[in-house]
Amino acid sequence: MSLRVAVLASGRGSNLDALLARSADGQLDARVTLVVSDREDAPALAKAQAARVPAVAALPPEKNEGRAAYDARLGDLLAAEAPDLIVLAGFMRILTPAFCDRFAGRIVNIHPALLPAFRGAHGIRDTLAAGAKVAGCTTHLVTADLDAGPILLQAALAVRPDDDEESLARRVLRLEHQILPRTVQLFAEGRVRVHPESGGRPWRAEILAGPSWRTTAGFEPVPGALYPDAF
Ligand code: GRF
Repeated sequence: MSLRVAVLASGRGSNLDALLARSADGQLDARVTLVVSDREDAPALAKAQAARVPAVAALPPEKNEGRAAYDARLGDLLAAEAPDLIVLAGFMRILTPAFCDRFAGRIVNIHPALLPAFRGAHGIRDTLAAGAKVAGCTTHLVTADLDAGPILLQAALAVRPDDDEESLARRVLRLEHQILPRTVQLFAEGRVRVHPESGGRPWRAEILAGPSWRTTAGFEPVPGALYPDAF
């Protein structure tokens, strides 16, 4: 049985596309069964429809609707489709603690920076503004603490002296399109073990040993990129 994945996306949906492509070419033992956007005009919705994702929904917030009410509606919509995993792929809303608890350990986010540095909405811009020499992206479990849940996978590359936000974002995005499907596959392979908080150590995710995508035929590393063993 392949993993049932729900994707939440507010925008262009290139990470959704990467998941759909790896699912279609058989590298991913997972299928996207639901795509939800908080924006009716999100290109991600059109991409989901074109790929014949079984359930596609626009769920814009209602007038004066608070975050708790919205997240309850979103949670009910998700629960009805019974996904094994919920992927935030450019979902531009901060989820309430109640929502994070309801699906604890089953929500994954992709962030365009090397967490825990450069949390928030401008990971690439903040990486450049800090003069960081290495950039990258992170997948992590979502908790009520924004961009601070247990790290799952990361990939890194060197910042070039002439990089601007657009050029760096373009290279990091290529990494995102690799580590997000890879992260979902680790869940499909049952290789993510979550350790609860204990002895003052926050909860964290362990990736169990197993086959790597780095040695898979057809894998094209981004030039100069560093991938962890678990990739
Ligand atoms: C990505 O850069 C992702 O890291 C961030 O939002 C962006 C979404 O891009 N969270 P796309 O919609 O998947 O193309």
